[in-house]
Amino acid sequence: MTVLVTGGAGFIGANFIFYMLREHPDYRIVCIDKLTYAGNLSTLKPVESNGNFRFERLDICDRQGIYRLFQEEKPDIVVNFAAESHVDRSIDDPSVFLQTNIIGTSVLMDACREYGIKRFHQVGTDEVYGDLPLDRPDLFFTEQTPLRASSPYSSSKASADMIAMAYHRTYGLPVTISRCSNNYGPYQFPEKLIPLMIANALADKPLPVYGDGLNVRDWLYVEDHCRAIDLILHNGRPGEVYNVGGHNEMSNISIVRLILGELGKPESLITYVTDRKGHDRRYAIDPAKIHAELGWLPETKFADGIKKTVRWYLDNREWWETIISGEYRNYYEKMYGNR
Ligand code: NAD
Ligand code: DAU
Repeated sequence: MTVLVTGGAGFIGANFIFYMLREHPDYRIVCIDKLTYAGNLSTLKPVESNGNFRFERLDICDRQGIYRLFQEEKPDIVVNFAAESHVDRSIDDPSVFLQTNIIGTSVLMDACREYGIKRFHQVGTDEVYGDLPLDRPDLFFTEQTPLRASSPYSSSKASADMIAMAYHRTYGLPVTISRCSNNYGPYQFPEKLIPLMIANALADKPLPVYGDGLNVRDWLYVEDHCRAIDLILHNGRPGEVYNVGGHNEMSNISIVRLILGELGKPESLITYVTDRKGHDRRYAIDPAKIHAELGWLPETKFADGIKKTVRWYLDNREWWETIISGEYRNYYEKMYGNR
């Protein structure tokens, strides 16, 4: 079995590659990644000498390159993680989000049609459903919830989902989609909430909390997400969407306090800053379908997962310190300099 993983030098893609090479040692994993600011080849060091692993730097929008790779590798399965993934950057400049997330996805699916495929899996997000009010804790996103994306990022992901389903219906492409809630764990780029707060706290820098800090996200340990995708690839039904989330809703401010507590740093580091434009209030997944059909349940409790994650960032300072000393510094100044 040959699995083509796109965006595998990013956070979830890399964790997925580690997971698949461990769980399916006889599979060949081919990873392509454009290596944008968010992709780090050093993340894939632990598997670079594995004979069942190949990496190639390739943009999913590069039709010729993608077709050539399909001819060479004849993948059985494609798992599309490649995306521009950061909401704040999409607010600053949507164009590359539309290019990679929409056009790139369609190029991959065209290659699947041309060369044949057993499964095309699109890694989607719960953000396509928009948000839920804080005063209705009884409401959750199900697979039937209408798409109501709020940001350029989430609307580009919603577009990709719709095009993927159109390819299923129109061309019979065996497509599945997972829509997952917020992931956390090792190798997450330090512009996202949890690693950013860990890095700033360790440097005794202000922790920038948007708005009132009461926005709620539904946090899932990254390995639980990887296991969900593996189950969908093997047992999920083509043409279906599966929501993935662990009923672990937390407000941003409570996460920030937890991290400060873990690191023994003072709450005086918390700094409330101007809110994100169009900031979604609450995300909450109903994972009943994937549980009932595929037996998936999250295995890592948040209390354990966040401890493991903080420990990982303490033990792997070189990985993220290299990142924040480079191009990312300009981004940080632009986003937080005058906020
Ligand atoms: P990430 O930003 O850490 O990684 C994205 C990877 O894609 C990077 O390695 C980047 O170099 C690569 N990439 C970007 N544009 C590319 C292109 N044109 N061609 C090839 N590679 C390209 O993102 P992540 O957090 O690992 O998210 C992975 C996927 O999961 C995304 O599709 C995202 O929408 C989805 N998702 C993320 C979360 C989350 O909480 N992080 C939750 C649900 C869904
Ligand atoms: O829900 C799934 C989505 O989760 C994925 O589709 C996205 O790719 C992923 O980036 C994530 O999106 P969020 O916007 O929820 O993640 P982020 O880490 O950027 O922000 C989490 C919350 O924390 C959000 O309410 C904004 C807030 N925040 C974020 C940053 C970076 C702050 O308060 N301060 C910050 O500095």
